[in-house]
Amino acid sequence: MSGDDPYAVLAEWYDIEHDAITEDVEFFAQQVASLGVARPRVLEVGGGTGRIAAGLALAGYEVVGIEPSAAMRARYLARLAALPERVARRMTVLDGDARLLTLPADTRFDAALYGLDTFAHLLTAEERDAALRAAYERLHIGGKLLIDLDPLGARRLAESIGRDWLQGAWQDQRSGRVLRHTLRATDVSDDVSDDVVTIQNVLTVTAPDGAVTVCATELSPLKAPVEPTRAESLPLCAVVLMAVVPAVVQPLRLPVSKPGLMNGFVTPTTLESATSS
Ligand SMILES: C[S@@+](CC[C@H](N)C(=O)[O-])C[C@H]1O[C@@H](n2cnc3c(N)ncnc32)[C@H](O)[C@@H]1O
Repeated sequence: MSGDDPYAVLAEWYDIEHDAITEDVEFFAQQVASLGVARPRVLEVGGGTGRIAAGLALAGYEVVGIEPSAAMRARYLARLAALPERVARRMTVLDGDARLLTLPADTRFDAALYGLDTFAHLLTAEERDAALRAAYERLHIGGKLLIDLDPLGARRLAESIGRDWLQGAWQDQRSGRVLRHTLRATDVSDDVSDDVVTIQNVLTVTAPDGAVTVCATELSPLKAPVEPTRAESLPLCAVVLMAVVPAVVQPLRLPVSKPGLMNGFVTPTTLESATSS
């Protein structure tokens, strides 16, 4: 990925913020198990730092991650190095993009997944179409495509431009530093697509001696153009697409013990407003 990789800034803090999220990993593991394949092979598009992949590898699955951000891949490899060898050998991460899966021609998987709003990084219908085709072509007949997507969160941010939303605060147990993460929509784009909102991520890090550093980066996820009424009750919307019947879409309710933390970007109903504008 080029120098404008937003995850170059986020990568250092990504695991501190996201490693406690396990519900989606359990859900993906159940979905893969339900295929009834002895040693399932899973493709994770946007593998990030390997949070989901490590959980699936622990469950005995082989996971190949495609990840364009060098900073996120470096974290993935660091996680892999800390795992027992019998688990780590089931995980691979490759540079690549959802639209052009850089894999040997004959590589096929039992399941392909997009975790934690990764699919929202595909901003145009052409990009999404290319990505879905690429994943579909990599699946065995009867395989599953799993997409965890919360376009409503981005839409609600777009409706509160300029307002800060506190995503959460976490302490790094090793260094004692405290991370505070806020989000703010700064723009709703009409050049690429009017379904895209620009979100500024502000990470404020306070060291044990009180020193404060602030870094910011922008993400531009897709937002839902229209709010589906049922989705109001869905803290996280997971979609399961069967490779044999691509037209079948099943929105599922996940077991969510920490609503609001499930979604990479936002679930504003459970967010605390950092400012009252
Ligand atoms: C919200 S993170 C999710 C990471 C991981 N799946 C997880 O659940 O922790 C989104 C990831 O998608 C990656 N990504 C962004 N655009 C992508 C694209 N076009 N193709 C593949 N991955 C992409 C980012 O670099 C980032 O690591």
